[in-house]
Amino acid sequence: MIKKAEFSDYKASADFILEKIGDSPDIAMILGSGLGDYADLDENRIVIPYRDIPHFPVSTVSYQKGELVFCKRGEKKLIIMNGRFHYYEGWEMWQTAYPIPVFKLLGCKKTIITNAAGGISEKYKPGDIVCVNDHIKLSPDSPLRGANIPEFGVRFFDMQHVYDKDMADIAKAKAVSLGFELKDGVYGYMTGPQYETPSEIRMLKMLGATVVGMSTVAEIIAAAHCGLPVLCLSCVTNMAAGITGAQITEEEVLETGRTVKARFVSLLDEIVKSI
Ligand code: HPA
Repeated sequence: MIKKAEFSDYKASADFILEKIGDSPDIAMILGSGLGDYADLDENRIVIPYRDIPHFPVSTVSYQKGELVFCKRGEKKLIIMNGRFHYYEGWEMWQTAYPIPVFKLLGCKKTIITNAAGGISEKYKPGDIVCVNDHIKLSPDSPLRGANIPEFGVRFFDMQHVYDKDMADIAKAKAVSLGFELKDGVYGYMTGPQYETPSEIRMLKMLGATVVGMSTVAEIIAAAHCGLPVLCLSCVTNMAAGITGAQITEEEVLETGRTVKARFVSLLDEIVKSI
Protein backbone atom coordinates (compact mmCIF):
# COMPACT_ATOMS: atom_id res chain seq x y z
CA MET A 1 0.00 0.00 0.00
CA ILE A 2 1.20 3.52 -0.80
CA LYS A 3 2.21 5.55 2.24
CA LYS A 4 -0.51 8.03 3.22
CA ALA A 5 0.17 11.69 2.62
CA GLU A 6 1.23 13.77 5.60
CA PHE A 7 0.38 17.34 6.50
CA SER A 8 3.64 18.56 4.92
CA ASP A 9 2.62 17.01 1.54
CA TYR A 10 -0.75 18.80 1.52
CA LYS A 11 1.02 22.00 2.56
CA ALA A 12 3.57 21.69 -0.25
CA SER A 13 0.73 21.25 -2.78
CA ALA A 14 -1.16 24.25 -1.40
CA ASP A 15 1.94 26.47 -1.25
CA PHE A 16 2.76 25.67 -4.88
CA ILE A 17 -0.80 26.48 -5.99
CA LEU A 18 -0.99 29.68 -3.92
CA GLU A 19 2.21 30.91 -5.45
CA LYS A 20 0.74 30.38 -8.96
CA ILE A 21 -2.67 31.96 -8.27
CA GLY A 22 -1.55 34.67 -5.87
CA ASP A 23 -4.86 34.82 -3.97
CA SER A 24 -7.10 32.63 -1.82
CA PRO A 25 -10.13 31.20 -3.67
CA ASP A 26 -13.60 31.50 -2.09
CA ILE A 27 -15.10 28.35 -3.56
CA ALA A 28 -13.60 25.00 -4.61
CA MET A 29 -15.38 23.06 -7.33
CA ILE A 30 -14.98 19.46 -8.40
CA LEU A 31 -16.73 19.01 -11.71
CA GLY A 32 -17.77 15.62 -13.04
CA SER A 33 -17.40 14.30 -16.56
CA GLY A 34 -18.10 16.85 -19.25
CA LEU A 35 -18.60 19.87 -17.00
CA GLY A 36 -14.99 20.93 -16.64
CA ASP A 37 -15.16 23.68 -19.21
CA TYR A 38 -17.28 25.81 -16.86
CA ALA A 39 -13.85 27.21 -16.04
CA ASP A 40 -13.38 28.39 -19.65
CA LEU A 41 -15.87 31.20 -19.03
CA ASP A 42 -13.10 33.39 -17.61
CA GLU A 43 -10.54 34.49 -20.18
CA ASN A 44 -8.03 35.38 -17.48
CA ARG A 45 -8.12 31.97 -15.83
CA ILE A 46 -4.91 30.41 -14.55
CA VAL A 47 -4.45 26.72 -15.44
CA ILE A 48 -2.20 24.44 -13.40
CA PRO A 49 -1.74 20.85 -14.66
CA TYR A 50 -1.96 18.31 -11.82
CA ARG A 51 1.37 16.85 -12.90
CA ASP A 52 3.10 20.13 -11.96
CA ILE A 53 1.72 20.19 -8.40
CA PRO A 54 3.90 18.45 -5.80
CA HIS A 55 2.22 15.29 -4.41
CA PHE A 56 -0.96 15.75 -6.49
CA PRO A 57 -2.34 12.59 -8.13
CA VAL A 58 -2.64 12.62 -11.94
CA SER A 59 -5.90 11.26 -13.40
CA THR A 60 -5.93 8.57 -16.07
CA VAL A 61 -9.47 8.79 -17.47
CA SER A 62 -8.96 9.80 -21.08
CA TYR A 63 -11.96 12.14 -21.44
CA GLN A 64 -11.13 14.08 -18.28
CA LYS A 65 -8.44 16.71 -18.25
CA GLY A 66 -6.13 16.84 -15.27
CA GLU A 67 -5.84 20.46 -14.31
CA LEU A 68 -6.73 22.95 -11.64
CA VAL A 69 -8.19 26.19 -12.91
CA PHE A 70 -8.30 29.41 -10.92
CA CYS A 71 -10.88 31.83 -12.27
CA LYS A 72 -13.21 34.65 -11.30
CA ARG A 73 -16.97 34.81 -11.79
CA GLY A 74 -18.28 38.19 -10.67
CA GLU A 75 -16.88 38.83 -7.21
CA LYS A 76 -16.08 35.21 -6.57
CA LYS A 77 -12.72 33.52 -6.88
CA LEU A 78 -12.94 29.86 -7.77
CA ILE A 79 -10.53 26.98 -7.85
CA ILE A 80 -11.91 24.29 -10.14
CA MET A 81 -10.78 20.69 -10.56
CA ASN A 82 -11.11 19.73 -14.16
CA GLY A 83 -10.90 15.96 -13.82
CA ARG A 84 -11.12 14.00 -10.58
CA PHE A 85 -9.68 10.81 -9.13
CA HIS A 86 -11.76 7.66 -8.96
CA TYR A 87 -11.18 4.60 -6.76
CA TYR A 88 -11.77 2.34 -9.79
CA GLU A 89 -8.70 3.83 -11.48
CA GLY A 90 -6.61 2.17 -8.78
CA TRP A 91 -6.05 5.06 -6.39
CA GLU A 92 -6.21 4.52 -2.66
CA MET A 93 -9.37 6.12 -1.30
CA TRP A 94 -7.38 8.84 0.51
CA GLN A 95 -5.77 9.74 -2.82
CA THR A 96 -9.16 10.26 -4.46
CA ALA A 97 -9.90 12.83 -1.75
CA TYR A 98 -6.40 14.40 -1.76
CA PRO A 99 -7.46 17.80 -3.20
CA ILE A 100 -9.97 18.55 -0.42
CA PRO A 101 -7.52 19.29 2.42
CA VAL A 102 -5.45 21.21 -0.13
CA PHE A 103 -8.51 23.40 -0.86
CA LYS A 104 -8.92 23.93 2.88
CA LEU A 105 -5.31 25.10 3.12
CA LEU A 106 -5.86 27.44 0.16
CA GLY A 107 -8.53 29.16 2.25
CA CYS A 108 -11.66 27.97 0.41
CA LYS A 109 -14.84 28.35 2.48
CA LYS A 110 -17.27 26.28 0.38
CA THR A 111 -17.21 23.36 -2.03
CA ILE A 112 -19.41 22.48 -4.98
CA ILE A 113 -19.15 18.88 -6.17
CA THR A 114 -20.90 17.54 -9.27
CA ASN A 115 -21.10 14.10 -10.81
CA ALA A 116 -22.88 11.90 -13.32
CA ALA A 117 -25.17 9.32 -11.74
CA GLY A 118 -27.66 6.61 -12.57
CA GLY A 119 -31.27 7.35 -11.57
CA ILE A 120 -32.72 4.80 -9.15
CA SER A 121 -35.89 6.65 -8.17
CA GLU A 122 -38.59 6.69 -10.83
CA LYS A 123 -39.28 10.31 -9.98
CA TYR A 124 -36.20 11.16 -12.07
CA LYS A 125 -35.53 10.98 -15.78
CA PRO A 126 -32.24 11.23 -17.67
CA GLY A 127 -31.20 14.87 -17.88
CA ASP A 128 -32.51 15.77 -14.41
CA ILE A 129 -30.20 17.49 -11.95
CA VAL A 130 -30.48 16.20 -8.39
CA CYS A 131 -29.44 18.02 -5.22
CA VAL A 132 -27.82 15.35 -3.05
CA ASN A 133 -28.54 15.71 0.66
CA ASP A 134 -27.01 12.47 1.98
CA HIS A 135 -25.22 9.34 0.86
CA ILE A 136 -24.84 5.63 1.49
CA LYS A 137 -21.40 4.08 1.23
CA LEU A 138 -21.37 0.29 1.34
CA SER A 139 -17.65 0.02 0.60
CA PRO A 140 -15.85 -0.42 3.95
CA ASP A 141 -12.93 1.82 2.96
CA SER A 142 -12.64 5.48 4.04
CA PRO A 143 -10.35 8.27 2.87
CA LEU A 144 -9.69 8.96 6.56
CA ARG A 145 -8.50 5.42 7.35
CA GLY A 146 -5.00 5.50 8.83
CA ALA A 147 -3.26 8.12 10.92
CA ASN A 148 -5.42 11.19 11.55
CA ILE A 149 -3.97 14.58 10.57
CA PRO A 150 -5.12 16.82 13.45
CA GLU A 151 -4.36 20.02 11.50
CA PHE A 152 -7.41 19.15 9.37
CA GLY A 153 -9.84 17.66 11.87
CA VAL A 154 -10.52 15.27 14.72
CA ARG A 155 -10.28 11.48 14.53
CA PHE A 156 -14.02 10.84 14.85
CA PHE A 157 -16.17 13.41 13.12
CA ASP A 158 -19.80 14.17 12.38
CA MET A 159 -21.27 13.56 8.90
CA GLN A 160 -24.74 15.06 9.45
CA HIS A 161 -24.16 18.59 8.24
CA VAL A 162 -21.62 18.35 5.42
CA TYR A 163 -24.38 18.62 2.77
CA ASP A 164 -25.07 22.29 3.39
CA LYS A 165 -28.76 23.13 3.57
CA ASP A 166 -28.34 26.85 2.88
CA MET A 167 -26.42 26.22 -0.36
CA ALA A 168 -28.97 23.55 -1.36
CA ASP A 169 -31.85 26.03 -0.82
CA ILE A 170 -30.07 28.64 -2.95
CA ALA A 171 -29.41 26.05 -5.69
CA LYS A 172 -33.08 25.02 -5.75
CA ALA A 173 -34.28 28.62 -5.94
CA LYS A 174 -31.82 29.39 -8.75
CA ALA A 175 -32.98 26.34 -10.70
CA VAL A 176 -36.58 27.54 -10.44
CA SER A 177 -35.55 30.98 -11.71
CA LEU A 178 -33.95 29.23 -14.70
CA GLY A 179 -37.16 27.29 -15.36
CA PHE A 180 -36.51 23.84 -13.94
CA GLU A 181 -36.68 21.93 -10.68
CA LEU A 182 -33.86 20.44 -8.61
CA LYS A 183 -35.16 17.31 -6.92
CA ASP A 184 -33.60 16.05 -3.68
CA GLY A 185 -31.66 12.82 -3.62
CA VAL A 186 -29.54 10.33 -1.70
CA TYR A 187 -26.38 9.16 -3.48
CA GLY A 188 -25.51 5.47 -3.30
CA TYR A 189 -21.76 5.03 -3.79
CA MET A 190 -20.53 1.97 -5.67
CA THR A 191 -16.83 1.58 -6.44
CA GLY A 192 -17.27 0.45 -10.08
CA PRO A 193 -15.94 0.42 -12.74
CA GLN A 194 -18.72 -2.02 -13.63
CA TYR A 195 -22.20 -0.57 -13.61
CA GLU A 196 -24.39 -2.22 -11.01
CA THR A 197 -26.51 -5.36 -11.32
CA PRO A 198 -30.30 -5.01 -11.15
CA SER A 199 -30.21 -6.72 -7.72
CA GLU A 200 -27.65 -4.26 -6.43
CA ILE A 201 -29.86 -1.40 -7.56
CA ARG A 202 -32.90 -3.02 -5.87
CA MET A 203 -30.84 -3.24 -2.68
CA LEU A 204 -29.75 0.40 -2.90
CA LYS A 205 -33.34 1.43 -3.53
CA MET A 206 -34.54 -0.48 -0.45
CA LEU A 207 -31.83 1.25 1.59
CA GLY A 208 -33.02 4.67 0.47
CA ALA A 209 -30.60 5.65 -2.30
CA THR A 210 -32.20 7.51 -5.20
CA VAL A 211 -29.13 7.93 -7.44
CA VAL A 212 -26.02 5.78 -7.86
CA GLY A 213 -22.50 6.69 -8.87
CA MET A 214 -18.80 5.91 -8.59
CA SER A 215 -17.32 9.16 -7.27
CA THR A 216 -17.88 12.04 -4.83
CA VAL A 217 -18.33 10.24 -1.50
CA ALA A 218 -14.64 10.09 -0.54
CA GLU A 219 -14.39 13.82 -1.28
CA ILE A 220 -17.49 14.51 0.82
CA ILE A 221 -16.06 12.58 3.77
CA ALA A 222 -12.77 14.50 3.54
CA ALA A 223 -14.76 17.76 3.36
CA ALA A 224 -16.69 16.83 6.51
CA HIS A 225 -13.41 16.05 8.25
CA CYS A 226 -11.85 19.44 7.53
CA GLY A 227 -15.06 21.43 7.94
CA LEU A 228 -15.75 22.44 4.34
CA PRO A 229 -19.51 22.65 3.61
CA VAL A 230 -20.58 21.02 0.34
CA LEU A 231 -23.23 21.52 -2.30
CA CYS A 232 -23.48 18.27 -4.27
CA LEU A 233 -25.31 18.10 -7.61
CA SER A 234 -25.78 14.90 -9.61
CA CYS A 235 -26.71 14.81 -13.26
CA VAL A 236 -28.93 11.79 -13.95
CA THR A 237 -27.32 10.52 -17.14
CA ASN A 238 -29.21 7.20 -17.37
CA MET A 239 -31.67 5.13 -15.42
CA ALA A 240 -29.84 2.65 -13.16
CA ALA A 241 -29.61 -1.08 -13.93
CA GLY A 242 -32.92 -2.92 -14.03
CA ILE A 243 -35.08 0.22 -13.88
CA THR A 244 -35.86 0.26 -17.61
CA GLY A 245 -33.82 -2.76 -18.71
CA ALA A 246 -31.95 -0.63 -21.25
CA GLN A 247 -28.24 -1.27 -21.78
CA ILE A 248 -26.08 1.21 -19.81
CA THR A 249 -23.12 2.52 -21.77
CA GLU A 250 -20.44 5.11 -21.20
CA GLU A 251 -21.55 6.77 -24.47
CA GLU A 252 -25.06 7.28 -23.09
CA VAL A 253 -23.67 8.68 -19.85
CA LEU A 254 -21.41 11.14 -21.70
CA GLU A 255 -24.09 12.05 -24.26
CA THR A 256 -26.68 12.93 -21.60
CA GLY A 257 -23.99 14.91 -19.80
CA ARG A 258 -23.38 16.90 -22.98
CA THR A 259 -27.12 17.55 -23.43
CA VAL A 260 -27.50 18.90 -19.90
CA LYS A 261 -24.25 20.86 -19.89
CA ALA A 262 -25.58 24.28 -20.91
CA ARG A 263 -28.32 24.12 -18.25
CA PHE A 264 -25.87 22.85 -15.63
CA VAL A 265 -23.35 25.60 -16.39
CA SER A 266 -26.04 28.34 -16.15
CA LEU A 267 -27.14 26.89 -12.82
CA LEU A 268 -23.58 26.71 -11.47
CA ASP A 269 -22.95 30.29 -12.48
CA GLU A 270 -26.10 31.52 -10.71
CA ILE A 271 -25.22 29.54 -7.58
CA VAL A 272 -21.63 30.78 -7.48
CA LYS A 273 -22.79 34.40 -7.54
CA SER A 274 -25.19 33.84 -4.65
CA ILE A 275 -23.35 31.70 -2.10
N1 HPA B 1 -24.09 3.64 -12.07
C1 HPA B 1 -22.95 4.08 -11.51
N2 HPA B 1 -22.34 5.19 -11.90
C2 HPA B 1 -22.91 5.90 -12.87
C3 HPA B 1 -24.09 5.52 -13.50
C4 HPA B 1 -24.73 4.30 -13.08
O1 HPA B 1 -25.78 3.88 -13.59
N3 HPA B 1 -24.39 6.45 -14.45
C5 HPA B 1 -23.40 7.40 -14.37
N4 HPA B 1 -22.50 7.06 -13.42
